[in-house]
Amino acid sequence: MSKKLICHAAELVTCAGKGPKHGKDMSDIGMIQDGAVLIDGDKIVAVGTTEQLKQQCSGIDCEIIDATGKTVMPGFVDSHTHFVFGGYRADEFSWRLKGDSYMSIMERGGGINATVSKTRAASLEELVEAGRDRLDRMLEFGVTTVEGKSGYGLDKETELKQLRAMKELNSTHCVDVVSTFMGPHSVLPEYKGRERDFIDFLLHEVMPVVKEENLAEFADIFTEKNVFSVEDSRHYMTEAKKMGFKLKIHADEIVQLGGAELAAEMGAVSAEHLLQSSDKGIIDMAKAGVICNVLPCTAFCLKEPYAKARKMIDEGAAVALGSDLNPGSCFTNSIPLMIALACIYMGLSIEEALTALTINGAAAVDRADRIGSIEPGKQADIILLKYPSIHFLPYHTAINLVETVIKNGEIVHKR
Ligand code: NIG
Ligand code: FE
Repeated sequence: MSKKLICHAAELVTCAGKGPKHGKDMSDIGMIQDGAVLIDGDKIVAVGTTEQLKQQCSGIDCEIIDATGKTVMPGFVDSHTHFVFGGYRADEFSWRLKGDSYMSIMERGGGINATVSKTRAASLEELVEAGRDRLDRMLEFGVTTVEGKSGYGLDKETELKQLRAMKELNSTHCVDVVSTFMGPHSVLPEYKGRERDFIDFLLHEVMPVVKEENLAEFADIFTEKNVFSVEDSRHYMTEAKKMGFKLKIHADEIVQLGGAELAAEMGAVSAEHLLQSSDKGIIDMAKAGVICNVLPCTAFCLKEPYAKARKMIDEGAAVALGSDLNPGSCFTNSIPLMIALACIYMGLSIEEALTALTINGAAAVDRADRIGSIEPGKQADIILLKYPSIHFLPYHTAINLVETVIKNGEIVHKR
């Protein structure tokens, strides 16, 4: 029996609409009370009230999933992670607790470069196994699609190894993995002062192979003081775009450098972090339709101010939320913690936070046509929460409420 009818959902959150939701529309989550969803194979075929769908299904053989007392919503899209890496940096976390800063650790040779050594030393199999374990834990939080970045190799062999690990995980794990090339993630000592040479090495030696083997859809760069300048980033993004990569940018994370403005100028699909973005940068992104991908768990872990997500929405931007799971600045993939921070500290309503984690997350990985909402024709990636209302999500602070995860029409996790 390939048909399934989820019925009697106390609240069915569809997030339906045409693509990403901007500004005020982020509050419209398409709620249906006593809702139902009909799945056929891996696709959603009908959505409505239980009464409507039961009528439509009479005489049809389908497996019933009773969602009485539960919230039903699209699977979460974690649209920003660095989940494939070797080793750990727990020592750095302890130094930061004592007052050290993320950038000063990086400038002393720690930070991303410390993970580079460990990732170079790891085998492809080790990266795949560590990645698989992390995907298992994401799935428990209801994540059905995740974006993952390279950027812990900074040489041809290891950048490709990270991307090949993600490609293998995408084909062998039920969570979908969208890959991003992020060679310009850090500058090794031998390239200090010659950042443009490093970018050209990536553009000429590494990225053609990435394209040839179809290892990544997006190209990303860490545009930051003492990392890559706006000029170098513009050069990288221009050339990457010519090669057919869609663009992302780590912008204004620690220092206001103009990354948001550059994202708008370059027509990036999304801009990430944005903690320090200027008001003009925010308006530019809103006008250019750049998805503002904010990562509150990183701000929390680094004790930095949160991105102005409220202002972004008020200016009409489409905001997405991502975890930024990585071994340095933010070692968490907790969706409930992200929701709590977004609602309590960034001033988002729960409706806006859910839009940011579903349809807008899907748009940040250029998949809003396939995932991120419960609508006929979309991939059947659906989660059931233990409680009857979305309002339990921030209220049960940082507690995982996901009971059942349906991926491509199959139940893949149940608690
Ligand atoms: O998004 N800021 C740059 N990249 C990551 C951190 C990576 C790391 O510290 O290993 C970020 O925060
Ligand atoms: Fe990041």
